[in-house]
Amino acid sequence: MPDITETAQRAAQEAGTILKHYFEEGFNIRLKGTADLVTDADVAAEQKVAEIILADFPEHSILGEEGHTADVASEHLWIVDPLDGTTNFAHGFPHFAVSIAYYHQGQPECGVVWNPIREDLYTAVRGGGAFHNGRPMRVAEGKSMSDVLIGVGFYYDRGEMMQGTLSAIRDCFGQKIHGIRRCGTASLDLAHVAGGLWGGYFEYELNAWDFAAGRLLVEEAGGVVTNCSGDPLPIGRTSVLAGAKCIVEDLTEITRRHLPE
Ligand code: IPD
Ligand code: CA
Ligand code: CA
Repeated sequence: MPDITETAQRAAQEAGTILKHYFEEGFNIRLKGTADLVTDADVAAEQKVAEIILADFPEHSILGEEGHTADVASEHLWIVDPLDGTTNFAHGFPHFAVSIAYYHQGQPECGVVWNPIREDLYTAVRGGGAFHNGRPMRVAEGKSMSDVLIGVGFYYDRGEMMQGTLSAIRDCFGQKIHGIRRCGTASLDLAHVAGGLWGGYFEYELNAWDFAAGRLLVEEAGGVVTNCSGDPLPIGRTSVLAGAKCIVEDLTEITRRHLPE
């Protein structure tokens, strides 16, 4: 029986090679919704990931952003974002990733995030820790809001969700944080929390594929991941808040206050 982590890693890296090729050679861009872009690279990378997973695990289900559909209650569920950070990619900003998670009976068991430009590999297996290029990762333990960077993401909404995010950012500055970061790739944002570069991160709406692998990185690096009200994460679309235990209480108080209706 093939090894889940090895398959996930190989799929992420092969898809990453495809992304890098398109990034360097050029691609077509289409609009999926207002300011929501998709390129040839997203589609080609998802095809590669699915081909590799199904060759090793033909009975498993795949939920992918670019067309693979699956019931989130499937016993063996792979959740794939073939190109997380499409807006960065489309604008030539070299910060994007392939994100692949494997869930067994609703529990995240393995998460892999691969940044093909920097060749950064982030991996986590439930109960086995989280690693960045083979080195163990830990969240920013023992810090307070006034010692850390906080990451945020904006979903494609330009209305209430954006207003809520901006108000929450203002309140974070009120806690004297060192700075806010918005890097545009949720899976790498969560990797930054897992590695302790950021004390916390929140976004008022994400899809399963944006956070499925990154959440396990944070959990296995000793952090906490909930929704922005502090409740347990579902598998599907939700708000997401992640951080070191010492940060999440203060951060959740802020994100709860500005939750969009
Ligand atoms: C997006 C990125 C971004 C986040 C958006 C996501 P995509 O994913 O992760 O950082 O703010 O909410 O949708 O569309 O580039 O795969
Ligand atoms: Ca994404
Ligand atoms: Ca994507």
